[in-house]
Amino acid sequence: MTVLARIDDLHISFGGVAAANGVSFIVEQGEFLAVIGPNGAGKTTALRMVAGILRPDSGRVFRGDRDVTSLPAHARVRLGLGFTHQIVRPFYSFTTIENVMLAAGHHQTGSPWRAIAIRSRAAARKRAHEILERIGLAAESEKSPRALPLGQRKRLEVARAIALDPKLLLLDEPLAGLSSAEAATMADLIRTLPGEGITVLLVEHNLGEVLRVADRLVVLDAGKVLAEGVPAEVMKRDDVRQAYTGVV
Ligand SMILES: Nc1ncnc2c1ncn2[C@@H]1O[C@H](COP(=O)(O)OP(=O)(O)O)[C@@H](O)[C@H]1O
Ligand SMILES: [Mg+2]
Repeated sequence: MTVLARIDDLHISFGGVAAANGVSFIVEQGEFLAVIGPNGAGKTTALRMVAGILRPDSGRVFRGDRDVTSLPAHARVRLGLGFTHQIVRPFYSFTTIENVMLAAGHHQTGSPWRAIAIRSRAAARKRAHEILERIGLAAESEKSPRALPLGQRKRLEVARAIALDPKLLLLDEPLAGLSSAEAATMADLIRTLPGEGITVLLVEHNLGEVLRVADRLVVLDAGKVLAEGVPAEVMKRDDVRQAYTGVV
């Protein structure tokens, strides 16, 4: 087993509310790990601390053996930690394929302005096209993201994250707001990523889809890890059912 990322005893409080109160878990290379838990459990907060968008009050984040706790998000992206936001926010003045190219270009050049300058290059366009094909958006390449329905905009967000060449992809509720058919399509798509060298850390509220596709679960409740393990075992536990559904 190779440890791709390790989260060690993270604490963070917002105005006296402990959103993380000693969160620890590991992410193994090649797995599909889902973090679940009730609203307000601290899932987004934990993910943002792994991505480097939020700095913990205490505790450490490791990428492999390397302590990245003090690195900002863009430096972690360079070490293979890619992420999407819970709220999708493409650049509406660019086409769908240009949005993927800008993400890749920004990653490669370290500058959004240089990324804009190289967006017409054939090689960059080819790679972006391949990513869109893989994500099922090739037919929408020349459309504005504004013209895409939410399900496709969410796929564009995943395409932009894949353009960063992540080793670990952090996804915050990619199924939220989707119809059940779209959610199943998206979950199936994410399921293919570990087979292609992208380990997945998924925060998701759609329990049905999570149980169908995840290899392993971490259950958060009130800023703490309540349980972790394979889905069938974890979901048998009374404390998990109580926390997650309010009923045993
Ligand atoms: N920036 C913030 N300022 C104040 N409180 C926050 C902030 N971010 C999160 N919280 C609080 O921290 C707790 C965990 O939030 P969050 O991580 O968003 O939970 P989840 O994603 O599991 O629904 C909640 O009580 C939330 O209100
Ligand atoms: Mg959240």
